[in-house]
Amino acid sequence: MRYVVTGAAGFIGSQLADALVEAGHEVSGIDCFTDYYDPAEKEENARGLDVSRLDLAADRLDFGGADGVFHLAAQAGVRSFGDVFPLYLRQNVLATQRVFEAAVAAGARVVFTSSSSVYGEAEAYPTPESAQPRPISPYGITKLACEHLAHAYATGFGLDAVVLRYFTVYGPRQRPDMFLRRVCDALLAGTTFEIYGTGEQSRSFTEVGDAVAATMAAMERAPAGAVYNVGGGEEASLLEAIALLERISGRSLDTRRVDAARGDVARTKADVSRIRDALGWEPRTTLADGLAAMWSWASGRLRAA
Ligand code: UGA
Repeated sequence: MRYVVTGAAGFIGSQLADALVEAGHEVSGIDCFTDYYDPAEKEENARGLDVSRLDLAADRLDFGGADGVFHLAAQAGVRSFGDVFPLYLRQNVLATQRVFEAAVAAGARVVFTSSSSVYGEAEAYPTPESAQPRPISPYGITKLACEHLAHAYATGFGLDAVVLRYFTVYGPRQRPDMFLRRVCDALLAGTTFEIYGTGEQSRSFTEVGDAVAATMAAMERAPAGAVYNVGGGEEASLLEAIALLERISGRSLDTRRVDAARGDVARTKADVSRIRDALGWEPRTTLADGLAAMWSWASGRLRAA
C-alpha cells in the first residue's frame, strides 16, 4: 500500500513510518520540523525515511495515489493556555481541515490521531468512547474540534476517517517536554525534576509500539467513522512511574513540587473494550518493560552524544 504519514519526524509518527516501511509499504512522510523542541531530534527520528518539509496549514497538499493518510502532525502539549493558542488553532484545526480536504480530493482514507485530553476530567473511569467529551485544555479543545471536522467531512463529502484517542504515549523518542522523558533526562543529568502538583495524578501510559500497532490496525480494518481509545492497560501515578524508573536506572531522582499546571487532568484510564472487540488490539507491553526500553534508549543516546 501507499501511505502518507504527517508528523513523520515526530515521536510517534517516525516509529509508525518505520513500522510501515518494515511491513513492506511505500511511505511518504510530511513534517514541517517546527522548533517546539529541538529540530535536530526530529532529524534524528526521521533518519532513513522519505520526509518532505511541508506546512500542512499553508502549502499545497496532494495525496493523489495514496491509499491512506495517517494524520499525526499536531501542535502537541496539553499545557496550552495563553499566547500560544493561535498556534494550536493553526497547527491543529486549520492543518487538519486542509488534510481532510486533500484526502477527500484523493479518495484516501484518513486515520486521525486525537487525544485522551478530549475527555477532560472524565465522567467515568475507565473511560469509554461514549463519555461526554469536556476538554479542560485549549489543546484538547482543538483535538475535539478536529474530531468534529472528521465527522463533518464524512457527512458532507464522504470522507473515510477513523479517529484514535491516544493516552499519554511513551517510549523511545518521546518528546523532550513530556513527563517520562524529563524524568529520564533528569536522572541522567543528576538535575532536579519539577513535579507539577502532587504527583498523585495518574495516566493510562501507553507504550509507543502498542500505539503504532493500534494505528496500523485502524487503517487496515476499522470501519469508517469509528472512534477508538488507544490506552495502556496499566494506570500509574507520576510518583509510581518515578519509583519504577528509579528502580530500573538504579539512581534516585531529586524532585521539587511546583504548582499544578492548568489544563492538566487528575486522571486518565482508558476503556479499550471497543478497539479490542473490533480490531483485536490490546496493549501488550507492561509499564515496567516499556520503561526499561525507554531508559535504555535515553541512556544510550546520551552515551552516543
Ligand atoms: C500527553 C501528551 O503531551 C499530549 O500530546 C497527549 O495528547 C496527551 O498525553 C493525551 O494522552 O491526550 P500528558 O498526559 O499531559 O499529555 O503527558 P505528559 O506531558 O507526559 O505529562 C504527564 C503528567 O506529568 C502531567 O500531569 C504533567 O503535569 C506532569 N509533568 C509533566 C510534571 O509533573 N513535570 C513535568 O516536567 C512534565
